[in-house]
Amino acid sequence: GGDAPALVRNNNEEVWVPQRARPRRNRKSPAVRNMVRENIVTPSNFIYPLFIHDETFNQDIVSMPGCERHSLDSMLKEVGDAYQFGVRTFVLFPKVPDELKTNLGVEAYNPNGIVHRAIRMIKDKFPEATVCTDVALDPYSDQGHDGVVENGKILNDVTINQLCKQAVSQARAGADVVAPSDMMDGRVGAIRDALDSEGFTDVSILAYTAKYASAYYGPFRDALDSHPGFGDKKTYQQDPANGREALIEAALDAAEGADMLMVKPGMPYLDVIRRLKDNSNLPIAAYHVSGEYAMIKAACEKGWLEEKSVVLETLTCFKRAGADIILTYYAKQAAQWMAEDGLF
Ligand code: PBG
Repeated sequence: GGDAPALVRNNNEEVWVPQRARPRRNRKSPAVRNMVRENIVTPSNFIYPLFIHDETFNQDIVSMPGCERHSLDSMLKEVGDAYQFGVRTFVLFPKVPDELKTNLGVEAYNPNGIVHRAIRMIKDKFPEATVCTDVALDPYSDQGHDGVVENGKILNDVTINQLCKQAVSQARAGADVVAPSDMMDGRVGAIRDALDSEGFTDVSILAYTAKYASAYYGPFRDALDSHPGFGDKKTYQQDPANGREALIEAALDAAEGADMLMVKPGMPYLDVIRRLKDNSNLPIAAYHVSGEYAMIKAACEKGWLEEKSVVLETLTCFKRAGADIILTYYAKQAAQWMAEDGLF
């Protein structure tokens, strides 16, 4: 239009489009770009999810290339490898044999369950590491649901009673952070009270605040063999169509004593991350979930995307959207790439 700068010649007779502001000046060299960069991901922002099982071997997860169900010994080695690149926080997901699964998910609070043993092993060898645990019944449920089932319904308050026992047992084993991923109403407050009554006032709660009923969890359910036994999870996980509803969950979790708020999945829900960031002063976590990981892996295997660049870009975008913490299956690999680039 009429405001477009004219193409003229400068004092040296060179072509010149007169304009004082030129944003490209802040992009002119790596040094300048590095100086003005707004968001930087570091390995200390990561939480590294690890799948474990009670076997002496590791098992590949076909839909998550590069991830495995680890034996406990292998898990400890994986923690050590990631630790060496600066990753300090881990979250554990167990694959539980069918014979230990029940509707009440009682194996979830067996003090010698696989998660409890894993926590003790990690804290013993890496006392400075932060160990997070998932609080939900699905790995232990013969119904394939996050809560107790009666007549095809997922019971809210009965489930909370189980979750409190699970969280306290994990704290007793040495968990630093418990992360309820079940989406029952009121569980954060109940878990906070249960932990406090047992003296675990220092154990943090990372709440899965805005956890959506997402199709992106498929590969994770392959990894744990935890596909819903019937129906879906839409009566407890949020409707992907809703953004404002995440603010209701965030207000409740904060009031109930959550220390950190999570949005899950990540990439398709960056707007929700931003909304929570703008509406809460608590740290915000993003879960870059299994399906997102699988999509990148598949495209890279085909040679359609360049893995390192696309992963580091994706993780940076979580930060830009407002995430302080990023749960990603790429944690060790990304931290290794950063180390190779001399970043951290
Ligand atoms: C279940 C749980 C799920 C994930 C983490 N905890 C799956 C589900 O809700 O069915 C998914 C993580 C991922 O897809 O990477 N409590």
